[in-house]
Amino acid sequence: MKLSAIKADITTLRVDAIVNAANGSLLGGGGVDGAIHRVAGPELLAECRRLHGCETGDAKITKGYRLPARHVIHTVGPVWRDGRHNEAGLLASCYRRSLEVAADNAIASIAFPSISTGVYHFPATAAARIAVRTVIEALPMHPDVGEVVFCCFSDKDLELYQSLLDASAI
Ligand code: APR
Repeated sequence: MKLSAIKADITTLRVDAIVNAANGSLLGGGGVDGAIHRVAGPELLAECRRLHGCETGDAKITKGYRLPARHVIHTVGPVWRDGRHNEAGLLASCYRRSLEVAADNAIASIAFPSISTGVYHFPATAAARIAVRTVIEALPMHPDVGEVVFCCFSDKDLELYQSLLDASAI
């Protein structure tokens, strides 16, 4: 199992699945959600409409259409309020459920953006810690998921994830 952090636009990654930081409607939005729908094309929205939304902390899979990635796993992160509304638990659930959905769909390589740390204002450092810890804890249950990429969109995030991975000696 390979864990890595890179700085890239997730829509360019040729992996089995990229994870989308979506909202509960699954009908698109800004940020990484907007970028993924823009590149994937209108068929993605058409398939998303048939999914009838997604709960916070859950994840659902579609095809990738015009993306280089074969699939998109849509997950809905928590909006940060004050840290006392189970935001950490719901964010961890996004990573856990995304890996479960990946394993159920024979996905061997998956890339995550930094879920909830944009429009949803989850503090980046706390979110990255939750992301790395949850993935490391969950991966032994999913031996066929061989590669996990943390796709950062800033140098700051890349340094953060790289230091967390180095500290985990993975
Ligand atoms: N590739 C990789 N990462 C990206 C990209 C991209 N093309 N675009 C943005 N990001 C990063 C942001 O810099 C941030 O670190 O993704 C992370 C998540 O930010 P958002 O996309 O704002 O997602 P989130 O905070 O989870 O908010 C979700 O925003 O776009 C709407 O419909 C979406 O309502 C939902 C909400």
